[in-house]
Amino acid sequence: MAFTFRLSYNPDMLDDSFTDRMRQSGDPLADAVIAEYIGAGEIPELNALLGRLHANMGDPAGYPPRLAAFFEESSRLPPWADPERIARAQRLFTLHGPIFGLVMLFKSLPILYAGGKGGAQVLAMTGQLNNHYRRRASETLRFILDVMEPGGLDAGGKGIRTAQKVRLMHAAIRAYASASPLWKGRREAWGPPINQEELAGTMLAFSTVTLDGVAAMGLKVDRRDAEAYLHAWKVIGHILGIDPGLYPKNLGQARVFWKSLVRRNFLRTEQGLVLIRDHQEFMATLIPGRLLDRGIPTLLRYLMGRKISDKVLDLPESRAPFVLLLFLVETFRLQKLGFLLFPGLVRRARAVSVELMEAFQAYLNAGHSRPFRVPPSLTRH
Ligand code: HEM
Repeated sequence: MAFTFRLSYNPDMLDDSFTDRMRQSGDPLADAVIAEYIGAGEIPELNALLGRLHANMGDPAGYPPRLAAFFEESSRLPPWADPERIARAQRLFTLHGPIFGLVMLFKSLPILYAGGKGGAQVLAMTGQLNNHYRRRASETLRFILDVMEPGGLDAGGKGIRTAQKVRLMHAAIRAYASASPLWKGRREAWGPPINQEELAGTMLAFSTVTLDGVAAMGLKVDRRDAEAYLHAWKVIGHILGIDPGLYPKNLGQARVFWKSLVRRNFLRTEQGLVLIRDHQEFMATLIPGRLLDRGIPTLLRYLMGRKISDKVLDLPESRAPFVLLLFLVETFRLQKLGFLLFPGLVRRARAVSVELMEAFQAYLNAGHSRPFRVPPSLTRH
């Protein structure tokens, strides 16, 4: 066990000078693949590839050698990956999918708009695309469903493939965004787009920050389940190319690390404000009628906290639908109690939860799915 920790944890992680170095670092393996396409002037081929990856990538064995080597190398799980803890995390997610999905929409995704040192800026660059918020929510949910389905992180699992594709997309965006006028003169302060520090922050947003949100929504997660969830996200982080020095040892350390990332990166920016405004408009399209729309900022504020809401994202205070929030929290609390009293319900509930999440992802995707492309605005300079 001690060996496991040594491999997956770097005691320097909380040291600012280490994080400063990580901020300057991209993802050499994926960046080299993308650089080859760009160097050969093969942007249409790159876009075709990203489009194919988005849909269904086929057999990587038929790919050009460097790409095939990337898929081979990045599919290997780290030696410290623990199948038991991964399976435990997947069981947690499949049982409580809807609450995790809710927290993803109201906390894990929008909290990233607060990252003002290149994070919000790069999201805003691709945010001009049609249906951006819908596609982003849909694809992020697809990602989470793929990695969290039982077996999703086994050799050849769906989740591994999905994470590899996203890793290449990130590298393509990194290449183009860093050459954009916005990055001019900012490279030293911001580091490359989607750099290691930003990646680690997002890994935490989808793990520890999500777990805190789930708890705030009334679901008490068993400590071992919660640690397993973080473990699974470290494994996902590995496939996404995150430096092993950035994996927190446990939830306690993850929270301290998250705080330091908030201190280092969160600030009010023009792009962050546009992103949070448009995100709310997108959420309003998901809720029938107008009556409940005022509940959107309320839930965002509740989950992201007053400080970020007031100082960084300008989310207005509104008490009106607070009773609805209480109703939601009580529902999740009672659901857990129901599972404790009637364990026989768990299997059925798991099947329903997965079906619900799949149906929601299909709904988000319906008629809006279009292959991801490097935005033309980024390739024109
Ligand atoms: C654990 C870390 C991360 C995960 C799991 C993740 C996941 C994803 C997923 C699922 C997609 C969707 C691909 C598609 O549209 O088909 C995506 C795209 C994208 N990601 Fe990430 N991401 C992570 C980190 C980051 C970071 C740190 C940034 C930078 C701020 C970033 C910026 C983007 C951008 C700009 C896109 C392109 C499409 C869009 O704008 O939605 N990601 N990522």
